[in-house]
Amino acid sequence: MPDFVIPVTLKIFATKKEITDYFNRKPVKVIGFVPTMGALHKGHLGLIELAKQQSTQVVCSIFVNPTQFNDPKDLEKYPRPIADDIRRLEEINCDILFNPQVTEMYDDNEKWHFDMGDLENLLEGKFRPGHYQGVTQVVYKLFNIVKPDVAFFGQKDYQQVLVISKMIEKLHLPVKLVMCPIEREPDGLAMSSRNIHLTPDDRKNSLVLSKTLNWVKENFEPTKIAELQQHAIQTISATPGVELEYFEIADGKTLHPATELSESVVALVAARVGKTRLIDNVLL
Ligand code: PAF
Repeated sequence: MPDFVIPVTLKIFATKKEITDYFNRKPVKVIGFVPTMGALHKGHLGLIELAKQQSTQVVCSIFVNPTQFNDPKDLEKYPRPIADDIRRLEEINCDILFNPQVTEMYDDNEKWHFDMGDLENLLEGKFRPGHYQGVTQVVYKLFNIVKPDVAFFGQKDYQQVLVISKMIEKLHLPVKLVMCPIEREPDGLAMSSRNIHLTPDDRKNSLVLSKTLNWVKENFEPTKIAELQQHAIQTISATPGVELEYFEIADGKTLHPATELSESVVALVAARVGKTRLIDNVLL
């Protein structure tokens, strides 16, 4: 292996036709795909690095998908630093950026429904109704356009990973899904595009989320689930500036409350810290 990296030029495509024509001209053995909504941080770059190790060419998409936002204000204020994102993709030698406009992705009044069972209404589904319908709608479209062999998703949205795996399985999509661990700031805060909205006070208060998850992990015993959950809820609810939406110790496959018999268990949290909504989780 050479100990130097040959720089690649990032190809930027904005239309379905451009990316389809490119892969028709130049078939690729393994297409790795990292779908994102931009405002790229180390978490995304970690996904791209992993994709590079497991694929012949890596496509990153940046598309702020309107159908997955249930709050128009949230959509409006979602960060869109596209010039910085392109620079980051160039720096890590990503091969292709797919960066379409909304009109390229959606016709007027399009309908979509994917039956994801209980995952639709639990946890994130309960607090963001319709969110995962929008996510599956856009990811299905992106899979059809990019035609990836492997797609990389971050563990931070654990429920999203379960929903996408279910879609792959039920619709028999020829894609392998890889879940990548959460990237954290040195003090534990899970990396997120939304962190830039945290004020200095919010930033300090937000640490209660990762600290509590860690505490639950360290003290986890299947017989103590209810006790741990109650303590976690009390700790987070008592933190000024933090409004807890849920803290659940759940079965890692169904996201129903975990029992002593659950084979895999995950603790998940969502809270508003100041005006910013954060999610985080830890595998137990
Ligand atoms: O996780 C995200 O950033 C988005 O939900 C995704 C998968 C890019 C779909 O818009």
